[in-house]
Amino acid sequence: MTSAAFPDSEAVRDLDARWVLGTYARQPLSLVRGDGAWVWDTEGRKYLDLTAGIAVNALGHADPLVVAAIHEQASRMAHTSNLYFTPLHGRMAEVLCRHGGLDKAFFCNSGTEANEAAIKFARKFWYERGSAWRHEIVSFQDSFHGRTYGALSATGQDKIQTGFGPLLPGFVRSALTPEGLREAVGAHTAAVILEPILAEGGVIEPSPEFIATLNELQEKHGFLLIADEIQTGLGRTGEWFAHKSPGLHPDLVTLAKPLGGGLPLGAVLLKQAVADAIKPGDHGTTFGGNPVAVAAGLAVLDRLERPGFLENVREVASRLRAGLASLSGRGPFGELRGRGLLIGIAVSCDPGMIMDAARAQGLIAYRAGGHVLRLLPPLVLTADQADFAVEGLRKVADRI
Ligand SMILES: Cc1ncc(COP(=O)(O)O)c(C=O)c1O
Repeated sequence: MTSAAFPDSEAVRDLDARWVLGTYARQPLSLVRGDGAWVWDTEGRKYLDLTAGIAVNALGHADPLVVAAIHEQASRMAHTSNLYFTPLHGRMAEVLCRHGGLDKAFFCNSGTEANEAAIKFARKFWYERGSAWRHEIVSFQDSFHGRTYGALSATGQDKIQTGFGPLLPGFVRSALTPEGLREAVGAHTAAVILEPILAEGGVIEPSPEFIATLNELQEKHGFLLIADEIQTGLGRTGEWFAHKSPGLHPDLVTLAKPLGGGLPLGAVLLKQAVADAIKPGDHGTTFGGNPVAVAAGLAVLDRLERPGFLENVREVASRLRAGLASLSGRGPFGELRGRGLLIGIAVSCDPGMIMDAARAQGLIAYRAGGHVLRLLPPLVLTADQADFAVEGLRKVADRI
């Protein structure tokens, strides 16, 4: 396909700037198509996508099986509402629950909606036990849980909350330390919500001491644990779920980003005891679990289940991480963070400068909170592409 069919990037940007609300400081790049981990702009320039639509495009762009699933389902029926059964939802729920060790799934459209639902489910759990006073949700400094009011109130970043007050009552922000947690939780705690790796906040892993304290306090107080795996889940760290290896025991797990194969889809996985508190009419969504998105997502889950897929993610991730580790201390590059293909690199300059320089090397990268460059490549990244990324970033390191 040539790019002649598209207006030039300047025209695209002018139209966008005139009509689209500026909630994002867009990078100067107009993308028109992709293939695996590669994307092309309006001028036909090619880039290696190390962002994957912010951890969405797990199988890269235009994966043939995802495309076929979308086409097939869209040509049959695009929407049913949740009033009826479909042959799709039970299948997806079974796969997710089997790998997550949970019992039921609720489907919605996005990450923030998944967290809203999880917060509601946690409160309803205590209400049904006659403990409605047990309503507090504890979350952590530098966390990110979404932009709607419940998820926003749980988000531990002033810069994201400022200007939108009053936020919801019943939310407590804790430091991501054993001491902070001991102070924050108690008899009123309904649930603690935690990202296994705080992604937007700077690719920060809770310490083993913190995890041990959380497990101890969960045992003592009996609060529910919500693992927000919206960015970490479904293969990103080389495992189905990132909460397993540090030893977290969630009662609810929230998912979105890669779940719909590039289409909007979110989910909450629940333990049976929490699911028992939810009755028809307690929560709902018109579009949630849209059949086209679920069909696309089943193609993603099918790939994740294939023997060798996650092993390959781990292998490519360790090759990429080894290459990036060799850049530590070079130019602005510092400590390497994260797990698998959720990668943070602490940098000593504005990460935006590196993103700009990386584009000139044919690489699309992103940032996280603090001075952190964030890389979230598709899970289908190849060894050669990993080497290309390291070489490009080496040149960036030497030029800044
Ligand atoms: C950990 C986490 N939770 C929640 C969200 C919100 O997801 P969405 O943007 O789909 O509402 C995000 C998005 O970046 C996230 O990374």
